[in-house]
Amino acid sequence: MKPIQAGLLGAGTVGSGVLNVLKRNQEEIKRRAGRGIEITMVADLDTARAQALAGPGVQVVKDARAVIANPEIDIVIELIGGYGIAKQLVMEAIDAGKHVVTANKALLAVHGTEIFAAAHRRGVMVAFEAAVAGGIPIIKALREGLTANSIEWIAGIINGTTNFILSEMRDKGLDFDAALKDAQRLGYAEADPTFDIEGVDAAHKATIMSAIAFGIPVQFDRAHVEGITKLAAQDIRYAEQLGYRIKLLGITKRTPKGVELRVHPSLVPAKRLIANVEGAMNAVMVQGDAVGTTLYYGKGAGSEPTASSVIADLVDITRLHTADAAHRVPHLAFQPDQMSDAPV
Ligand code: NDP
Ligand code: HSE
Repeated sequence: MKPIQAGLLGAGTVGSGVLNVLKRNQEEIKRRAGRGIEITMVADLDTARAQALAGPGVQVVKDARAVIANPEIDIVIELIGGYGIAKQLVMEAIDAGKHVVTANKALLAVHGTEIFAAAHRRGVMVAFEAAVAGGIPIIKALREGLTANSIEWIAGIINGTTNFILSEMRDKGLDFDAALKDAQRLGYAEADPTFDIEGVDAAHKATIMSAIAFGIPVQFDRAHVEGITKLAAQDIRYAEQLGYRIKLLGITKRTPKGVELRVHPSLVPAKRLIANVEGAMNAVMVQGDAVGTTLYYGKGAGSEPTASSVIADLVDITRLHTADAAHRVPHLAFQPDQMSDAPV
């Protein structure tokens, strides 16, 4: 079967990760998807850099609309970010009958209802695993693994930049600005880092999880949002002396009065697992009535961890798109000839 063709909009931190991982693991990904996945077109403002990343066989353009207009392309991957041009492009891709994969939590938390309704009308998928907690498959966990449960609450460290800053301030005595600069250099921060440090990014992600967990519309404007900019190094030290760590938590919870949605710095007892989540790592706890408490941990930001989730969505869409029903559900894609004789 011919590979499914995808077009990439934005070859920055995450987009470059997607190109690299898809190339590096293409055979395994093909086996799992039941069909090859090829990015045949890339749009980026810096076409020379994008061409160098994508390789010679890929058509690179400046105008993202040229990707959407290409009839050979079934999936559009939006990795530009923000609510502006990204929203127009996602809506146009849906109108053109393309499936969309995006990591853009800001866009979904604010305009998700409109976007999902448009996708539903047009019969295409909008997949967004990378939008929450980077490389952790938390959307899949909420939608699939925990689908039998009535979710009671979700709480977690869901912004890598702020967790990295708090860790660097505590462990290395770095000041806030120096730690933020490091997070930006490492590709963790948003294009506008005030979204990270003011808690907005975490609130975007909590909003998306809340909508999935509780079956409510995405309502970012109902979130209580407080970041870490008012914290001083001495707050972190005092907390430490009292046996606590300060963590920026995103929390959403079912209450008798309705769903609560909030992001704020919290004192977490130092011996709790979540208190020991350091650097740009994320951790999400989900409480379900049947399963009890579950915990998901991993890299919450960065090029390849986030690409891992984007590609998972590409594989899902490819499986559902293919005519071969055997590939519609994940299978082992096992290669017996690669078994080792060594005891495991
Ligand atoms: P970057 O800024 O690194 O990449 C965005 C890319 O899009 C840049 O190369 C930019 O070019 C390009 N671009 C901007 N405007 C256009 C346009 N009109 N047409 C085509 N290309 C354009 O962002 P990230 O890769 O970090 O983030 C992408 C998305 O992923 C965002 O929604 C972000 O929130 C999300 N995300 C990011 C994570 C991370 O760890 N970085 C993790 C999880 C989600 P130029 O640089 O020339 O402006
Ligand atoms: N800026 C985000 C963070 C990227 O630091 O967590 C991952 O969504």
